[in-house]
Amino acid sequence: MAALCRGVLRVAVHGCRYGPGMFREFSSGPSYQYILVERRGQSQNVGFIQLNRPKALNALCDGLMTEINQALDSFELDPQIGAIVITGGEKAFAAGADIKEMQNRTFQECYGGSFLSHWNRVSTVKKPVIAAVNGFALGGGCELAMMCDIIYAGEKAQFGQPEILLGTIPGAGGTQRLTRAVGKSMAMEMVLTGDRISAQEAKAAGLVSKVYPVDKVVDEAVTCGEKIAKNSKLIVSMAKEAVNGAFELSLSEGNRLEKRLFHSTFATDDRKEGMTAFVEKRKANFVDQ
Ligand code: HXC
Repeated sequence: MAALCRGVLRVAVHGCRYGPGMFREFSSGPSYQYILVERRGQSQNVGFIQLNRPKALNALCDGLMTEINQALDSFELDPQIGAIVITGGEKAFAAGADIKEMQNRTFQECYGGSFLSHWNRVSTVKKPVIAAVNGFALGGGCELAMMCDIIYAGEKAQFGQPEILLGTIPGAGGTQRLTRAVGKSMAMEMVLTGDRISAQEAKAAGLVSKVYPVDKVVDEAVTCGEKIAKNSKLIVSMAKEAVNGAFELSLSEGNRLEKRLFHSTFATDDRKEGMTAFVEKRKANFVDQ
């Protein structure tokens, strides 16, 4: 509710409410129906996206995913933004793809129309994305969280891939990213039974990096985003690319990519500034160049 109020306040300040449930971020920015978008952090350098379909437990309908992509595109282009936080509500981060929207789809429509092909934008953003998960992160909701670079969970969060109970399987990376995160046995158990795991189990399994009280997790995610945003945005993107290489490449190829990116940092002003600042015993002043 507090977050919703913040959204309304933001709209009131900018005076641009367009209709029921429709919000606009900036006077010249896109309007959003299913998400709230704002800047957070003391320096307003953390992009903040809150899924806002509470009555449907943030089920990820086509329009919502399109809006997330639009918000990510605008944050990616914004030179002030150094990290992005995606969150949902207290009851649900997201309860999955919208089952009502999928119910009557045919194979021909799915295959011919490349159904859900626009779902992977979160995983291609160059800037770091942090998921702050409270409540249910199920099916596509769990997959959305796993597309993010870091997952923080509230104590009552639950993660699951219940698609098997609907007669289907995960379709947005669930079988792949979950298995890489928690290992084969737990991933198989979750995907084949539809059973959920708690925040604490997700932490123990390596799916999430930290667990916080429900009312603290979003602020902690923003704080993490601020910490990242203080570094060189250019070098942060290189570091992210290098870590992501570990999921795609063999060890020797990954190490080669890392070495090339490491060498590349020596072509930047920020690498020089970072090391010079250390030697001069002062704080680095990065310029993202
Ligand atoms: C559409 C959904 C929804 C979903 C919940 N709702 N999940 N609508 N798609 N995924 C709607 C309900 O229909 C209901 O609206 C309202 O949200 C509240 O849900 P309830 O079921 O009444 O709440 P509750 O009893 O608290 O149960 C919560 C829940 C349950 C355990 C999370 O809603 C649930 O099991 N949801 C489905 C979870 C799931 O199977 N996810 C995977 C989806 S498939 P109305 O108006 O009807 O009262 C998927 C495939 C991904 O994600 C493939 C690639 C992207």
